[in-house]
Amino acid sequence: LPGASAHGPLTGRHVIVTSGPTHEAIDPVRYIANRSSGKQGHAIAAAAAAAGARVTLVSGPVTLPDPPGCDVVRVESARDMFAAVERALPADVFIGAAAVADWRVDVAPQKIKKEKGARAPVFSLVENPDILAGVAGGARRPRLVVGFAAETQDVIAHAREKLIRKGCDLIVANDVSEGSGVFGGDANEAHLVSRDGVESWPRLAKAAVATRLVGRLADILATCEA
Ligand code: CTP
Ligand code: CA
Repeated sequence: LPGASAHGPLTGRHVIVTSGPTHEAIDPVRYIANRSSGKQGHAIAAAAAAAGARVTLVSGPVTLPDPPGCDVVRVESARDMFAAVERALPADVFIGAAAVADWRVDVAPQKIKKEKGARAPVFSLVENPDILAGVAGGARRPRLVVGFAAETQDVIAHAREKLIRKGCDLIVANDVSEGSGVFGGDANEAHLVSRDGVESWPRLAKAAVATRLVGRLADILATCEA
């Protein structure tokens, strides 16, 4: 595969990455979405492949090209994403970079029509399964389970809480408040949160965040086995 290196720090490892938003259908022509571009997740998949890993990238709808050297599985909804991740297991590393929709609606089988004089439809939301928590707590748990936390306030505190609640090993936390330019932008100011503490990185290009993260994961895997 082009982009995959034969000898790298992740050679022989299988890495699963989720990326992009999910689309939750309302009816056959409408959906709920979010502003995730997939840039960070795709960059991580590319960096892992460049480090020698076999990479399965499970991606929601994005406008990005497939990263070189990755097996790309395209999905739409959170439930489809979860099923694709389960099909891709086992793995050494799981990285949940997707902005998974927290809720879905019960899909209407036909396009919802405006009826004259009728009230606007009201949708009740149903919670989606948590892919990261499911993978971290599952029977085939990868050695390293990494989540993301996009926060608009109290970034580190929320990331720590997510780390514990979801049972993952690391959380890449970032501030997505207005003006941070993270959503859709090319840079990211990330904090790597573990049970041991926090490593805060300077503002870096998303590709550089990806390379650093992959390097840290390779170091941790190597240390586990030493
Ligand atoms: N995540 C997931 N499945 C979900 C929701 C989130 O796998 N249904 C993953 C994301 O991919 C990310 C991490 O969980 O790696 C944190 O996502 P986030 O939206 O920040 O966490 P939530 O638990 O949904 O909390 P909230 O949206 O309330 O901040
Ligand atoms: Ca969420």
